[in-house]
Amino acid sequence: MEPTILLTDDQIAFYHEHGYLAIEAITTQDEVDRLVGVYDRLFAEKAGRDKGDQFDLAGTDEEGKEASLPQILGPSNYAPEMRLTQAWANADAMVKQLLGPEGGVGGDHAIYKPPFHGAETPWHQDEAYWDPMWDYNSLSIWIPLQPATVENGCMWFVPGSHRTEVFPHHSINHDPRIHGLEIEGADVSGAVACPLPAGGATFHHSRTLHYAGANHSPMPRRAWIIGGGAPGKRRETPRSFPWNERKETARAERAKSS
Ligand code: NI
Repeated sequence: MEPTILLTDDQIAFYHEHGYLAIEAITTQDEVDRLVGVYDRLFAEKAGRDKGDQFDLAGTDEEGKEASLPQILGPSNYAPEMRLTQAWANADAMVKQLLGPEGGVGGDHAIYKPPFHGAETPWHQDEAYWDPMWDYNSLSIWIPLQPATVENGCMWFVPGSHRTEVFPHHSINHDPRIHGLEIEGADVSGAVACPLPAGGATFHHSRTLHYAGANHSPMPRRAWIIGGGAPGKRRETPRSFPWNERKETARAERAKSS
């Protein structure tokens, strides 16, 4: 599929300078409407739960307990039609604009904030979740499937924070049963909120500090996140992310036994 929307030179420069970018549209309202149907079905059917791909990002994720922040890793593995969308084609073209011709979209995930009680996503850097042995050249594209507002949990970024190292993190509430991470000791006083229309998008570098508030609205807050990158390289200086080694999550157990 050919891209229908590309980034402007100013948008590309903004991303590299500030480590994030917000655009008004990465796809159409029609496509957003179709994606909502697929998205809601995957959560309703608990797609991927057996394999550890669907779980509560901000809770202890016991069987039968309502999730405060349901997440699906790789929703397009369970609904391949998500890759045959204009959003996916545009995201791929935009990653190449930002990272060069070797760049492209990779995996995806979905984070759903239920009405009135969807939990906040604490401040973190995405790279803190990943294998510490690699240097990455990666970003995430966050696409809301309804308007994203401060009230329902839009994204916030700390401009320029992509130039920092990875800060220490810990599992939310210091509970190793919880998958979600929270940053330690970072100054987020300069953070900016990025409200968006449905089908808009934010981009952020793997080290950019970011946060999304709780959903205080009466409507679900659906976000589909597409990962993009160019090849990374193995680090010459080793580092460790002990917060991941300490984790004992139910999702990892399900992944092991599936
Ligand atoms: Ni993140």
